[in-house]
Amino acid sequence: MRQAGPVAPERFEVAVTPPYPVRVGPGVLSGLASLTPGGRVALIADENAGARYGDEAADALAADGRQVLRLRVPSGEDAKRIEVWAELLGRLARAGFARDDAVVALGGGVTCDLAGYVAAAYMRGIAVVHVPTTVLAMADAAIGGKTAVNLPEGKNLVGAFWQPRAVLMDVRTLRSLPPRVFMQGTVEVFKHGLLADPALAEAVVSGALAPDADDAALTRWLAASGRVKAAVVAGDAREDGARAHLNLGHTLGHALEAASGHRLAHGDAVAWGLLYAAYLSPRVLDVDDAEEAQALVRRLIRTVAPAPPPAASWDELAPFLGRDKKTRGGRRHWVLMRAPGRPTLQHGVPEDAERAAWEAFLADPVQAERAAAELPAAKGEA
Ligand code: GLY
Repeated sequence: MRQAGPVAPERFEVAVTPPYPVRVGPGVLSGLASLTPGGRVALIADENAGARYGDEAADALAADGRQVLRLRVPSGEDAKRIEVWAELLGRLARAGFARDDAVVALGGGVTCDLAGYVAAAYMRGIAVVHVPTTVLAMADAAIGGKTAVNLPEGKNLVGAFWQPRAVLMDVRTLRSLPPRVFMQGTVEVFKHGLLADPALAEAVVSGALAPDADDAALTRWLAASGRVKAAVVAGDAREDGARAHLNLGHTLGHALEAASGHRLAHGDAVAWGLLYAAYLSPRVLDVDDAEEAQALVRRLIRTVAPAPPPAASWDELAPFLGRDKKTRGGRRHWVLMRAPGRPTLQHGVPEDAERAAWEAFLADPVQAERAAAELPAAKGEA
């Protein structure tokens, strides 16, 4: 469904030092030049986003008299390698980029992380503007300044906090996303809703944020999600405190991704991680209404339809949890919920509580529903 009339972009600021603007709406890409500081611009785009929106971005910059160096990176997690990062730095150096030039990242979360770390490292830091083109990147990677590449030893092990100068979320770019990828991105939006905005959580579970949503709905809900993340980042830019709440659902989610051999997509894994958190929370905390929380996440899972989690026992899964880089001092910590809007970081959760929550999670009726729904597809692929 598309909106008949024009939709006004939403605008807000991420109040770090220096603060930066975020624009959300159809067509905001046309304002790229005015929000990109410096002289020359390295436009780093992944293959998909570059092919679809690279010309438009480059033209917007060139029309402003900016010289543009277009750099293409592969789509997918494999691009987040030191070698790709070093090659991009070399390209900037050979083109004579200076400290007052800039990088524009055009693509999904991988491109934001990679191009952000290029900008963070080149000449000890040059300006970067993020133009995310997926729901996941709009909800997460583009705001907050976490940049990184992977090592063979683990994901995101090398990087820097490097805040962008501006973020442009052009919701038209979401029209070309595969529906399943779109829905996986909405899990991070739901997470923001659960942390701080009940109407946003309800929008996701009710299907109001979906591939057929009109431009006004996409703009409204992605801006609402961005505002939650912006407020958290403004309060704790370097994750010394409350920013850790953004990891809700991620401790188990990362373990499920790893245990599945990275076949389970990030959004799917976090959706399961949120359901697990809804079972672990009442075992550790005084929770307002555990069944209501579980029911809300169950609705998320029915809406997003994640692939089933790997069929692992707790003992099989626990080693993957132990490898999460957010483990400190050998004691796992979990972001749990007392109620919607009341997250808390819990250290040293007893393993018998973790194990019992896993058993309850596996027994949730939505597990069997998702497994049954996936069977015909699995047979068809065989
Ligand atoms: N992805 C969580 C954060 O930006 O802190």
